[in-house]
Amino acid sequence: MSRLLIISNRLPVTIDKRDGELFYHPSAGGLATGLNSLSDDMDKLWIGWPGKIIEEEWEKPAIQKSLGAKNLIPVFLTQKEKEFYYEGFSNKVIWPHFHYFTQYTTYKDDYWDAYKSVNEKFSKIILDILEEGDKVWIHDYQLLLLPELVREQFPDISIGFFLHIPFPSYEVFRILPWRKEILQGVMGADQIGFHTFGYMRHFLSAVYRILGHEHDFGKIIINNRIINVDVFPMGIDYDKYAFPEKYISEKNSNNSEKGFKKETKLILSIDRLDYTKGIPERIKAYAKFLENHPEYIGKVTLVMIVVPSRSNVDQYQELKNEVDTLVGRLVGYYGSFEWEPILYFYRSFSFSDLTSLYKVADIALITPLRDGMNLVAKEFIAAKEESKKGVLILSEMAGASDELTDAIIVNPHDKNNIADAIAKALEMPLEEQKRRLYNMQSKMKINTVKYWAKSFMDELLELEKNKNKLTKSLSQESEERQQLIHNYKNASSKLIILDYDGTLMDFHVDPQAVVPDQELMDLLFNIKNKSGNKLVVISGRDKKTLDEWLSPLDIDMAAEHGVWIKKKNTWKASRNLFKSWKEKVRPVLTHLVERTPGSFIEEKDYSLAWHYRKIDKDLSEKRIREYRDVLQYLTANLDLQVLEGNKVVEIKNAGVNKGKAAMSWLRRQEWDFILAIGDDHTDEDIFKAMPENAYTIKIGLQQTVARYNLMSVSDVRELLQELI
Ligand code: UDP
Ligand code: G6P
Repeated sequence: MSRLLIISNRLPVTIDKRDGELFYHPSAGGLATGLNSLSDDMDKLWIGWPGKIIEEEWEKPAIQKSLGAKNLIPVFLTQKEKEFYYEGFSNKVIWPHFHYFTQYTTYKDDYWDAYKSVNEKFSKIILDILEEGDKVWIHDYQLLLLPELVREQFPDISIGFFLHIPFPSYEVFRILPWRKEILQGVMGADQIGFHTFGYMRHFLSAVYRILGHEHDFGKIIINNRIINVDVFPMGIDYDKYAFPEKYISEKNSNNSEKGFKKETKLILSIDRLDYTKGIPERIKAYAKFLENHPEYIGKVTLVMIVVPSRSNVDQYQELKNEVDTLVGRLVGYYGSFEWEPILYFYRSFSFSDLTSLYKVADIALITPLRDGMNLVAKEFIAAKEESKKGVLILSEMAGASDELTDAIIVNPHDKNNIADAIAKALEMPLEEQKRRLYNMQSKMKINTVKYWAKSFMDELLELEKNKNKLTKSLSQESEERQQLIHNYKNASSKLIILDYDGTLMDFHVDPQAVVPDQELMDLLFNIKNKSGNKLVVISGRDKKTLDEWLSPLDIDMAAEHGVWIKKKNTWKASRNLFKSWKEKVRPVLTHLVERTPGSFIEEKDYSLAWHYRKIDKDLSEKRIREYRDVLQYLTANLDLQVLEGNKVVEIKNAGVNKGKAAMSWLRRQEWDFILAIGDDHTDEDIFKAMPENAYTIKIGLQQTVARYNLMSVSDVRELLQELI
């Protein structure tokens, strides 16, 4: 059985020390409770911090042993690491920033240094135990650099990464001084998962704008690796919350129903003490509700459970004071000898207590200002499996609101909105409660935490399979590659057609900067000089540039997608070309450039090209959509065509394309071996023109008629080098 290594900052158990003795108790928070419910169909090892500083070296082996028995491997942090990496960079930089609390982001290089070094510490422990075939699944914002660190040492291992908190919009993310390193760190993973499509979209946008990598339906290619970015909303162990009795031993069971008056309506809220959870705002909204609806005074109670969290971080301490004050004020104002408007608990509760509360509560009031997912909302819904009575009021800023659309959705910043929602919930007819609960429960029964983990892992494994398949087609040891080389070696007449940009050279924002390097010149020179070889470069470039760069090689070429053909050192234009149309088309393209700063027109002999490599993807797509019709209309009457290449739209005479150009070499004689390599849409014409037995190779993963894929320019160079 292959092993799954789960890596998270916190282990599912936390160590505590009382009277010199060590105790273990379950860790709080969605990540620990969620992951703890994963199924056992893989051998699992969980690596993380046990939540306590162990000062005494002699104590560590015993801890390692007892945790080891539960397949848990501790990463011990020093006091300084806890302060700088955990409380510092993780919880005073990433946590507030990613939750849009930029006013709390603390810019300290010391925090960043500690974050890097603790991520390295984790990577060393992983590398010590990692075996071939293991899968690595790294979790959350404390370990954003870890995927890359593991990748550096184990280039072929399958690595998944899941972010349990929101990924902020690019405009917020870009503020971070360490934005580039953070993205590069995460991109070490093969698969990156988010709870919602919104977070995924923000991430992809940041990757594009900061690192310059585009995605194709969530797939990004970097250095021959495919990275899959997708949405996997995390669920809960439904059964456990629907039928908690099955999971609680007799002696631990606790029926909280006993403590509450039957006629009092209970509103429940449960969160860690965190400024993202909107606790003060909730208390104020509850006060507003009592003010707007005095008829409910004495008839409702807000049971507010606040679990202590990160209490060494300043903002959490301040929040504690604020919540205490607000609760005190509310009780002081509304409370009476008979009635407590709010019951406030600042501690964690056992599973048995929590689930009893879920069962008895009439309403769950869950109003975070930002929340990656929020499992409490889901647990409450599941707990209503039997009764089908209860209403969920949920913030639109919680990831869970994407799925729990039958909740009463509120804006957590809007007191009146929440106050109205409470009134609406209290008055909601039972039939409606039942219908809403049923809808949400039906979804959650399918999207359980096991389903979440399974879909993440299945997709990761599928990626691994395809990775092999893709590179297998022409990977180093593949039969196909060997066959290609064998055929090449045994052939006496060989036609090799190569595109230039994106095939032999990587793209650059400035097209004129893509001058061939010495390695490429030597490679092409050697190919050309092997006996029996006919080397042709077919490009969209103008002939002047091609001559400037490649004429020392003395090879055949086609320029402007086949407008010009160079044989025996002489350029000849295709027949029936004309350029009078340029006067009509140029003003349209000039207007397009004026409206799209950063784009430009390239003028070739018989074509005009609009380049937009530096332009934001969304803007360029919008412009292309706007101008496509105008250009099609203009060109249809003028016997022209519009070609869409890689970040370029080109207008040229109809009937000219790279495929036609290729034919002029193809037809010249019988070839024993044909190889054609290209990367963009315009190269598809070459592939289509080739006979069936030709080796046609597409660079990248887009739809193609080519027989094979390679992933990058360096792959192409490597293959060509091997041929000769
Ligand atoms: N929880 C707990 N003990 C408590 C209160 C809550 O174990 O006293 C659990 C709760 O059942 C839920 C998790 O803590 O599974 C909170 O997860 P959520 O996603 O709501 O918030 P997070 O803490 O991850 O921000
Ligand atoms: C959130 C985070 C988790 C974290 C949990 C508890 O759920 O996404 O990564 O473990 O809060 O926070 P703590 O700082 O106590 O680990």
